[in-house]
Amino acid sequence: MNVLLIGSGGREHALAWKIAASPLLTKLYAAPGNPGIAQEAECVALDVSDHQAIIQFAKDKSIDLVVVGPEAPLVAGLADDLAAAGIRVFGPSAAAAQLEGSKGFTKDLCARFDIPTAAYGRFNNAPKAKAYARSVGAPIVVKADGLAAGKGVTVAMTLDEALDAIDQCFEGAFGDAGAEVVVEEFMQGEEASFFCICDGETALPFGTAQDHKRVGEGDTGPNTGGMGAYSPAPVMTEEMTARVMREIVEPTMRGMKEIGAPFQGMLFAGLMITKDGPKLIEYNTRFGDPECQVLMMRLKDDLLVLMNAAVDGQLGHMSVRWRNEAALTVVMAAKGYPASPEKGSVIADVDEAASDDTLVFHAGTRREGDRLVAAGGRVLSVTALGSTVTEAKTRAYAVVDRIDWPEGFCRRDIGWQAVRREAEAKA
Ligand code: AMP
Ligand code: GLY
Repeated sequence: MNVLLIGSGGREHALAWKIAASPLLTKLYAAPGNPGIAQEAECVALDVSDHQAIIQFAKDKSIDLVVVGPEAPLVAGLADDLAAAGIRVFGPSAAAAQLEGSKGFTKDLCARFDIPTAAYGRFNNAPKAKAYARSVGAPIVVKADGLAAGKGVTVAMTLDEALDAIDQCFEGAFGDAGAEVVVEEFMQGEEASFFCICDGETALPFGTAQDHKRVGEGDTGPNTGGMGAYSPAPVMTEEMTARVMREIVEPTMRGMKEIGAPFQGMLFAGLMITKDGPKLIEYNTRFGDPECQVLMMRLKDDLLVLMNAAVDGQLGHMSVRWRNEAALTVVMAAKGYPASPEKGSVIADVDEAASDDTLVFHAGTRREGDRLVAAGGRVLSVTALGSTVTEAKTRAYAVVDRIDWPEGFCRRDIGWQAVRREAEAKA
């Protein structure tokens, strides 16, 4: 098979690495890719927002499958345009990608199909949103409806914070994404990321992970795209997984089919495991980044076989197998991330750093001659397997410490919840 992978982050490097290992693969292309992805694929400088250019490339190169990594092209209808041109694509239609593209859409779907989530209101003006926030009281959560690169959510501990966040949304802080606002109940519990590969009809559980969204150690500082992750997530026991499938994912699949937008691709449920059971925080319609990196390290099966089955509506006959080991990834970011990452610093000793159980996935890197330089906020994703999360953590940080990049930083406490659990279980 000839495969075209869309994207350029650590998630896509992990996907490229796994796809490249498939015996089904003839040739892998990536658009636009990055220097790490270039070790697995031929990178092509296509403009991802130019759907005609992607269709033409896919025809010229006899592409058998397009894999879309990030959400923006999905919400923009890339999968629809490819499918209309007769090109097979792993990833949801624009209608199905509304699960990520509009928080209000997802909340309404939850209400209609009885899917547990935080109580909410949907508003297109500040006075009504504020009146609702006042009636509920703090803590309360304010969300820009649309895609806001992970920045549109304010978990407000005071009413004033919530009112400010509402003003910011309607004053355009998130552009069009904030023209509508969801105000919702604050939920308490432990968070988990839960993935399902979907073919429109069947959803197959596809692993669990825990992300670390705050930039600083001890989960402090501003939110980021994710500073590290580990898999599996200990809260997602077999019973909890079965319950989430029954109460959240399966009704979503049925609901999406019923409204004429069957979901094909990777469904990523952000969950809050509360004392009343699992509740949906939000959906994403793609792999997580950096969650994908730990999932790919643990996946035993051939990813292309599974993606083909998703595209062809054949997942009902499949299962997914995982290595018993845990995996953990540490994101190395450029100083100043997330507000204003410094670009252009030189990163040395990356290729020498990895070992048998560890891989260094590239995100925002660029080659300048024979030097590797930082070209984004999140720059590397250092990923390791271990018999426990604690062991994976030790291995990952040993690699981090061999990379020579004074202008980079990382959290030193990735995996802290699991490491503490493992220590308690041993004692
Ligand atoms: P999101 O960008 O939607 O993933 O939200 C970012 C983070 O905000 C989530 O990972 C949660 O930690 C937090 N969050 C979102 N919604 C709620 C809620 N209703 N209650 C408590 N925390 C929330
Ligand atoms: N790491 C969270 C996300 O990909 O949305």
